[in-house]
Amino acid sequence: MTRIGIIIIGSTRPGRNGETVARWVHEIAAQRDDAQYELVDIKEFNLPHLDEMAPPSLGQYTQPHTLRWAEKIASFDGYVFVTPEYNHSTSGALKNAIDFLYAEWNNKAAGFVSYGSVGGARAVEHLRLVVAELQMADVRAQVALSLFTDFENFSVFKPSEHQVGAVNTMLDQLVAWSGALATLRSGTTMATPQSHA
Ligand SMILES: Cc1cc2nc3c(=O)[nH]c(=O)nc-3n(C[C@H](O)[C@H](O)[C@H](O)COP(=O)(O)O)c2cc1C
Repeated sequence: MTRIGIIIIGSTRPGRNGETVARWVHEIAAQRDDAQYELVDIKEFNLPHLDEMAPPSLGQYTQPHTLRWAEKIASFDGYVFVTPEYNHSTSGALKNAIDFLYAEWNNKAAGFVSYGSVGGARAVEHLRLVVAELQMADVRAQVALSLFTDFENFSVFKPSEHQVGAVNTMLDQLVAWSGALATLRSGTTMATPQSHA
């Protein structure tokens, strides 16, 4: 069965809104029977700033934290990135976690759930460029949660009713593309070195 990783969280800071948002996405996803959905908390992997000698595209991982992170990410067919917007982009923590790996992301699908003053829209536009370089297929449907209307006092998560439908639309597209790309990956070697222009 298709496996989707719901990536918590762009945010690793104490009191993060991201954890509540990601758990809400997981609750909605868990009611579906089209894929297995698993929460993945970047914070639990204690990744330092990228500390591998070789570029990730060479697949020569040496650090125990990289190997653990790679094993988890390799186990999925697609991902939901749950991201805050920090200074009009995604968080450094999420970008760093993405940068650690390469082949594990390739030819898989990506969907986005974001939150911020304008729904985290600018963070996701940046993330779409990043995942394209990793040969991921990003679905169009996006869940954009407003700090003004989907939260109280910018911290108590109270999503508008229509956002449940937005999550399901995004997951519809994500599961379809995750399944399609799995057929492309079959027969390929995950850690094949690739040129990095
Ligand atoms: C360093 C930093 C920069 C931020 N920059 C933006 C921003 O550019 N746009 C925005 O809409 N919100 C911005 N915010 C507000 C965050 O969207 C809001 O605090 C959100 O809850 C952060 O996610 P988190 O609680 O999961 O860490 C920023 C917050 C932080 C901590």
